[in-house]
Amino acid sequence: LEVEHVEKVKTSKTKGILLLHPWGNVADMNNLRAYADKNNLFILSDASHAHGACFGGQPIGKYSEITCVSYGKDKLISGGELGGATTDSDQLWDRMALFSQVNRIPADLQTSTYKYMSNSIGPKYRPHALSLPIALDQLNSYSERILKLNININKFCSYLKSTRIFEIQKVYPDVSRVYWKIVVFINHKNPLKVNKFILETAKSMSLVIEQDHYSPLLHQDPIYKEYYNISSCNNSLPNAESLKNKIVQIHAPILDDENFVYKYCELFKTVENKL
Ligand SMILES: Cc1ncc(COP(=O)(O)O)c(C=O)c1O
Repeated sequence: LEVEHVEKVKTSKTKGILLLHPWGNVADMNNLRAYADKNNLFILSDASHAHGACFGGQPIGKYSEITCVSYGKDKLISGGELGGATTDSDQLWDRMALFSQVNRIPADLQTSTYKYMSNSIGPKYRPHALSLPIALDQLNSYSERILKLNININKFCSYLKSTRIFEIQKVYPDVSRVYWKIVVFINHKNPLKVNKFILETAKSMSLVIEQDHYSPLLHQDPIYKEYYNISSCNNSLPNAESLKNKIVQIHAPILDDENFVYKYCELFKTVENKL
């Protein structure tokens, strides 16, 4: 996400920017923070794909009023079912604690604002006691693991750069990204054909290419209309719709094992050679 994207949709009613860091690739946080300050907007950042990512040497949480994060099923750090949020604001901390810890007034409220209020509002968002140590254990070795994973992924990405038709996501110069998913762009006149070809070749090599994030696209999933009674964006998200066929996606932690770096390089080589 960049400032120009926000400018296109901002109105006089806009209060804040909700953003995410798709697949671990960090938004343009420095410019977005400056823009938000200038326009009196808050930033709420969803870092579920980007545990440990940095912008300008700073953890991405530094750029937002609140950063929320999933540690769900197959995330880079997972506690099974777990999520969290961070803030530097005592006020926001207390509000989050108050709304999420129903019937357990936390001893660690930071301000006196809610001290004498009943704490029986809001849902129970506190984590399961077993999820926390599971996630914490991964956190202890996370930096080391990500360093190794990034070395493998960089090898794979260097290979893709040497191809004629495959490209990877652009990264802002000041970003130290992580990879939850690797997105490969197909730069070809018939991307659908190449897409299909990649899937078939991957299957024959027993390699996994993920598709579930793009079919159907969220806003086209009937459940959104049925459950929320909304049809977002008049059922049209032109960028997502046109991108859908031009990309394929790999679950990045598969490349923890260096052998898979070579196998996935082989896959894209085979596809390109046959075109
Ligand atoms: C950007 C983003 N935010 C939030 C979530 C939800 O996480 P959870 O499954 O822990 O509710 C996901 C799940 O993949 C996600 O991709």
